[in-house]
Amino acid sequence: MTDLSRAGTFVLGDRVVKRLGYGAMQLAGPGVFGPPKDRAAALAVLREAVAQGVDHIDTSDFYGPHVTNDIIREALHPYRDSLVIVTKVGARRDGQGGWLPALSAAELRQAIDDNLRNLGLDVLEVVNLRSMLDVHGPKEGSLEAPLTALAEMRRQGLIKHIGLSNVTHRQVIDGRRICPIACVQNMYNLAHRADEALVADLARDGVPYVPFFPLGGFTPLQSTVLSDVARALDATPMQVALAWLLQRSPNLLLIPGTSSVAHLRENLAAVDLRLPPDAVARLDGIAGESAPAH
Ligand SMILES: NC(=O)c1ccc[n+]([C@@H]2O[C@H](COP(=O)([O-])OP(=O)(O)OC[C@H]3O[C@@H](n4cnc5c(N)ncnc54)[C@H](OP(=O)(O)O)[C@@H]3O)[C@@H](O)[C@H]2O)c1
Repeated sequence: MTDLSRAGTFVLGDRVVKRLGYGAMQLAGPGVFGPPKDRAAALAVLREAVAQGVDHIDTSDFYGPHVTNDIIREALHPYRDSLVIVTKVGARRDGQGGWLPALSAAELRQAIDDNLRNLGLDVLEVVNLRSMLDVHGPKEGSLEAPLTALAEMRRQGLIKHIGLSNVTHRQVIDGRRICPIACVQNMYNLAHRADEALVADLARDGVPYVPFFPLGGFTPLQSTVLSDVARALDATPMQVALAWLLQRSPNLLLIPGTSSVAHLRENLAAVDLRLPPDAVARLDGIAGESAPAH
């Protein structure tokens, strides 16, 4: 069995977690909407993740909606003390699976209550406020009202730590003036590196940056360089993509998603892959000239 602690640990909120975790979004149905086609397989992925030592699972009640949280609860409740479940609020789904903002104080309170009930928890360890100023990516604008509402729920003891997701660097700086920000979850991977400065800033302050779509998302990363490097190292392209992130900065906490036990095992085995400097240099080039050097 892979020893996940070989990739190191990092403090998330007031807990220490291994740097390679698991993202549960792929456990819902197509388009992250409705139930999975094979619920038993989804339960098996979660149980295998925890059996392999995963202690950080990312989820949301708007995956399904409610589907991934239901599956997490069925698979893993009562939870191991070591397991940190991170959820996110700020969006809701319409009847066709569309993604809508849900950032009012009442909607956020409803989302917190739903997450508590569906996960079977008395308190949520970390809740990310997912900006929906633009569903597809970070967009400037004030998050003061929803963040203040969440901070109040934190004071009430419903949440231990607050994070931000799909946000700009400016929103992180502004957010940290409103309440402590335990982590930032934005899109970042080998080919998409717009957040280099934000990753470095957070690393300096010991704040985790959790890249979503670490493998490229719904269409996993494809690149000749990635395939060549993987072949030379006798690894798979997905393992190389994860190893590159692990080596990129110590504050990166990975949550690759999969609906397959075989892919899960393959991904977790990336902790044993060390990329030599020439491989890192080639991989750095994938993002193009704009990506700064290490
Ligand atoms: N905050 C946000 O706005 C936001 C947005 C998106 C995601 N997230 C979080 O980030 C997590 C990770 O993102 P993600 O799951 O969407 O994308 P991802 O981890 O980049 O990639 C998942 C995709 O890669 C495939 N895959 C996984 N391992 C593989 C392997 N070893 N070989 C080949 N294909 C493989 C999966 O298919 P299979 O199922 O077939 O393995 C799936 O299609 C999510 O679970 C979610 O918790 C957050």
